[in-house]
Amino acid sequence: MRHKMITVALFTGLLAVASSASAEAPVSGELLAFQCAGCHGFNGHSVGPATPSLAGFPKEYFVETMMAYKEGERYATIMDRVARGYTREQFEAMADFFAEQPYLPAKQDFDPELAARGAEIHDQHCNNCHSEGGTYPEFDTAPIAGQWMPYLRDTFVDFREHGRYQPRGMERRLMSVEELDALVHYYGSQQDPAAYVHAD
Ligand code: HEC
Ligand code: HEC
Repeated sequence: MRHKMITVALFTGLLAVASSASAEAPVSGELLAFQCAGCHGFNGHSVGPATPSLAGFPKEYFVETMMAYKEGERYATIMDRVARGYTREQFEAMADFFAEQPYLPAKQDFDPELAARGAEIHDQHCNNCHSEGGTYPEFDTAPIAGQWMPYLRDTFVDFREHGRYQPRGMERRLMSVEELDALVHYYGSQQDPAAYVHAD
């Protein structure tokens, strides 16, 4: 009898330790990120073509983007529904995880002539915010070089036709369909992982 009571006491004690540990354990960004892998790939390396890679995203951009989806402030086809299931704290944990993953540019076909034209347009109109050819995500943006081309095309439609928010400096510069297509080929042409600068 005494033996049984000790066992029960031990078991209850273990349960208490286990539950206090889970209450205090930090949220694991890696485990949460698994829930995104079906679309965004493992470690945020999307296998494309209409879903963006998330690896190497700056933390602040990631958290603010997820909050904007959650609150219905950024146009989405899917992500508004996904984001509603999570808290800011969980977004912060995921942001830490994705920011640590190396950015892997997509391997995809592009037209070299259009890419060269796109490079000129980029240098003139876009590089002051999407610097280093769009590989360096500053001013609260994502890396756009090396992102899937169909996804980039979709974002231009979202900006132009679905009222996705864009900073005023960018709105003034978004141009004809032909020029946007050249830009998409330029971003798609950048496929060297070593060219990527990791933001904090
Ligand atoms: C069913 C597929 C699907 C799932 C699951 C999914 N996403 Fe997405 N995600 C998309 C698509 C498609 C877009 C483009 C926006 C849209 O149309 O909703 C996107 C866009 C994003 C963006 C914006 C990227 C950028 O360049 O600005 C982020 C950030 C993001 N998703 C994070 C996540 C996270 C974190 C999860 C898991 C909690 C997740 N997604 C789960 C399909 C998905
Ligand atoms: C004044 C600074 C600025 C300029 C200039 C600018 N952008 Fe942006 N761009 C941004 C910011 C900030 C975002 C993120 C918007 C958001 O939070 O959704 C963005 C988002 C984007 C996105 C979507 C990225 C994604 O993953 O969802 C694309 C594509 C893009 N810009 C392309 C361009 C191109 C092409 C040009 C030049 C014609 C350009 N931008 C000029 C600041 C700028």
